Amino acid sequence: MNSSSVPSAEDRTISARQDVPRLPAAGPAPLRIGPVVVDPPVLQAPMAGFTNYAFRQIVRQYGGAGLQATEMVHARGFLHICRHHDRFPDRLWGVADEPRPLAVQIWDNNPDDLAAVGARLAHEFRVSVVDINFGCPVRQVTEKAHSGSYLLKYPERMGAIIRRVVTACDPVPVTAKIRLGCSRDSMNAIEVAQVVEAAGAAALTVHGRTAADYFKGSADWEKIAAIKPHLRRIPLIGNGDLASPAAVLSAFERYDVDGVMVARAALGRPWLFRQIEAALRGEPVPPDPALDQQRELLMHHFQLVCQRFGEQRGSILMRKYACCYAQGRRGAREFRTQVAHVSSPAEFCQVVQRYFPSESSSRRGGEETPAEPQSGSKVAESS
Ligand SMILES: Cc1cc2nc3c(=O)[nH]c(=O)nc-3n(C[C@H](O)[C@H](O)[C@H](O)COP(=O)(O)O)c2cc1C
Repeated sequence: MNSSSVPSAEDRTISARQDVPRLPAAGPAPLRIGPVVVDPPVLQAPMAGFTNYAFRQIVRQYGGAGLQATEMVHARGFLHICRHHDRFPDRLWGVADEPRPLAVQIWDNNPDDLAAVGARLAHEFRVSVVDINFGCPVRQVTEKAHSGSYLLKYPERMGAIIRRVVTACDPVPVTAKIRLGCSRDSMNAIEVAQVVEAAGAAALTVHGRTAADYFKGSADWEKIAAIKPHLRRIPLIGNGDLASPAAVLSAFERYDVDGVMVARAALGRPWLFRQIEAALRGEPVPPDPALDQQRELLMHHFQLVCQRFGEQRGSILMRKYACCYAQGRRGAREFRTQVAHVSSPAEFCQVVQRYFPSESSSRRGGEETPAEPQSGSKVAESS
């Protein structure tokens, strides 16, 4: 196995190196983000277009995620919508009332806008954590708005942003999410991590790729762990390619991180956090729900989305989630082809009833290499 990276979870074995501390029998210690205790230290990642209130409710129903995050929210957009339309952005759906702990992620380039939005999230919405995105590699965010991973080139500005937001949000903790750098030849995560800590952030999450990588190759966990000795106070959360309980166990055993964050693998398997929690405690890992239960869950998810966005828009929004639920199952390809065209609730229900992978389609065979999640969101689908 290539020791410089964590391969896809399927390849990973739970073997520990001798020169790093082994995972305690009781599992990794809870993570502290300022006053917020994250237990287990396994976080549900922010994902634009996906981790809305409906998805978060479903993850919460299964349990196992120590901290959940919203999609990223554009600070200037937030202020504009509030000022001119007297409402909040759709991405804050559920945030005011849902259980804590909850992190809301924001992005922008302007410290004043970020501080203004951070302050409202902290004091009006009373969220548990305000996270700032410094990792998004999407052009609309980097080139056009000089935000997300673009700011990794300007650690001083990152520091100025974090300081302003920390002051505005006090006592609510502020965290940062970064990539290893903008590109392979400009990896500066260690320098950036020190700036993040010195500016008063309460935790740092690192996705082990550069912005130029998007999702190519494997997340480099050696490089994530190399940051740890340079942090004096704040916890380090590793992220990238954790797709199974075994992969998470292995990450904690092999790499010196205080927590881990899981993104894509949970999209069609929102019960994954519960499985990870069991594995970390040394308990038997609960099996995946049966396919008919997964179909019911998909329909429940559909109802939650329709309650908020209406049946027509809900049906279209659900196409991408439906693809995630089917991903990797036998019969998924046919299901995806069919569900990609639904535009009404009746069509959605019909396609799910008829084509969602079932025990019998599994027995028939004929599927399926895992793929990237399908997405309908224009901005920051791959931060
Ligand atoms: C569809 C999609 C949307 C994402 N949106 C965000 C986002 O809004 N904010 C963010 O910090 N990262 C975002 N990410 C990146 C993930 O949080 C995570 O860093 C990345 O997917 C690597 O983790 P994984 O290998 O567990 O998927 C997104 C990723 C995907 C696939």
